[in-house]
Amino acid sequence: MIVKMAGAMSVALFSATLAMAAGNPEAGRVKSEACLGCHGIPSYNNVYPTYHVPKLSGQQADYLVAALKAYRDGQRQHGTMSAQAFDMTDADMADIAAFWQAQGG
Ligand code: HEC
Repeated sequence: MIVKMAGAMSVALFSATLAMAAGNPEAGRVKSEACLGCHGIPSYNNVYPTYHVPKLSGQQADYLVAALKAYRDGQRQHGTMSAQAFDMTDADMADIAAFWQAQGG
């Protein structure tokens, strides 16, 4: 899934990298509280009903920012994640991505 997406994301990733300031992982921890119910579970399944949720811990910050921008800007369609991302600023995304990257694999 990640491999398949790599091509589609590379353009977004490139522009995100150029524009991105380094995020603050501590600010990102607070901003990520709403994500933990789905993305914080060790088995990477949602609590109810069980469905697969992608692993965020240890992902590259650049990748996470590119994914969040794709949800926000409608390049990537997913009801829940579009709703999560629609009011995020670029700085929010950088902070959140820095937090998740720092969680390790
Ligand atoms: C209700 C459950 C839920 C919540 C809450 C949630 N997510 Fe997600 N998230 C998902 C699901 C399901 C997907 C897979 C969507 C898809 O197939 O595109 C996903 C995908 C993602 C991806 C793409 C991962 C990848 O490998 O491509 C990122 C990044 C992400 N979420 C970040 C967040 C952040 C940051 C928050 C909190 C602000 C959050 N999510 C809150 C369920 C959730």
